[in-house]
Amino acid sequence: MMGQANYCRSVQACLFLLLVGLVQVLGKVTAPGHVEAPVEKPFTLTCSFSKERGESLRKIHWLDVQNQTLLSYQPGNRDGVSGQQHVELASSSKDTSAITIRRVGFRDEGCYTCIFDFHPSGSQQGQTCLTVTAQVTVDSNKTAVSGKRASLSCSYALPEKVQQIVWRHVSAQGDSTEVASFAKRSDPMIEPQFQDRVWLTASLSESTLTFQPVAIQDEGCFTCMYETYADGIKSSVVCLSIYVLPKPQVSYKTTSPGVIEANCTSVSRPPAEIVWNVERDNRTVGPPLTRQLPRPDGTTLVTSTLTVQSGLLKDVSIKCLVHHKGLESPIAVSMNTKIGTALTILISVTTVASLLVMSLCFCLWKCFLHKEAD
Ligand SMILES: *[C@@H]1O[C@H](CO)[C@@H](O)[C@H](O)[C@H]1NC(C)=O
Ligand SMILES: *[C@@H]1O[C@H](CO)[C@@H](O)[C@H](O)[C@H]1NC(C)=O
Ligand SMILES: *[C@@H]1O[C@H](CO)[C@@H](O)[C@H](O)[C@H]1NC(C)=O
Ligand SMILES: *[C@@H]1O[C@H](CO)[C@@H](O)[C@H](O)[C@H]1NC(C)=O
Repeated sequence: MMGQANYCRSVQACLFLLLVGLVQVLGKVTAPGHVEAPVEKPFTLTCSFSKERGESLRKIHWLDVQNQTLLSYQPGNRDGVSGQQHVELASSSKDTSAITIRRVGFRDEGCYTCIFDFHPSGSQQGQTCLTVTAQVTVDSNKTAVSGKRASLSCSYALPEKVQQIVWRHVSAQGDSTEVASFAKRSDPMIEPQFQDRVWLTASLSESTLTFQPVAIQDEGCFTCMYETYADGIKSSVVCLSIYVLPKPQVSYKTTSPGVIEANCTSVSRPPAEIVWNVERDNRTVGPPLTRQLPRPDGTTLVTSTLTVQSGLLKDVSIKCLVHHKGLESPIAVSMNTKIGTALTILISVTTVASLLVMSLCFCLWKCFLHKEAD
């Protein structure tokens, strides 16, 4: 029993000694091995140290990725800080040292060293390796009118890391096809089926894909993929909707004596909404009847049929109003009845006036001629 207890105690002692040894071997300075810093933002690097009794800390140096002095100072004398312009000493607790890179850029990537000069034991150092990161940002989703121009843009703030940019299209059915790509030291490549109507900018940061003319089948979502070294693929998605604007038409015919059937038709994408505007009157025979007919090209034919008493056409203006997401205000198509009446009155008045003037002239001429004959 006695022997066992002794053995136990000595194992504990050994473990303790081993631990103490490890700490000494590792030094008194600790720093995170690897950190990630977002580009264009400030970033703070930190090293911690522990001081033994009787020891004093004389000086702290920070070295940059090229092993050049970034900053150095004496603890307790924060006014005596010397170093490079793009970094500053950050506030920290008494057993840490922290420096802030004011605005992280691609060139700040690499390993930083913090060196602590202790007296009398000498210097200790720690190292932190920094990776500069960025996200791909995109515009908001876009809508474009079929046949016009559409542009989609992505951007990535670390073009130095980009090897290639690839744009892929994902249709509503989920099929993914490559559209275009741009690799470092080459020209933009456009896939054959998109040639002559798709363009890509020759940039590794701001990438703009332009369609002219844009077609209904271009609708869907697009992924812009930035292939980076050595952070892998960074990508983002932006979606495009294609509109076909309506060009409504109104036609009408007499279906039975005293009853007129009027059709307002519109071909558009997405389907238009048709309403009838009948001025202060209720001589319509029931509410309008609307039908939608999807067409193979992706548009929809909407027909709204209104049946009215024929007398109504002479008295009030009947308008078909077509509402569509792609229009700022609805398109109004009038059945022209009221304008017709006004025009008729105008023509009649003009005709009568001309006749009067002509007869007056005739009269005068007749009188004059009569006198001469005398
Ligand atoms: C900086 O010094 C370390 C050793 O202290 C070395 O491993 C590293 O390669 C040096 N870096 C440069 C850029 O000279
Ligand atoms: C863009 O559209 C897609 C699909 O229509 C949708 O999932 C996504 O949330 C939209 N993004 C934005 C920023 O509105
Ligand atoms: C209105 O449309 C319907 C269905 O499309 C058609 O049967 C009817 O003949 C049309 N009427 C007129 C006046 O065009
Ligand atoms: C339509 O108008 C007439 C008078 O102009 C009125 O007697 C009738 O009640 C109205 N009908 C409806 C459904 O409002």
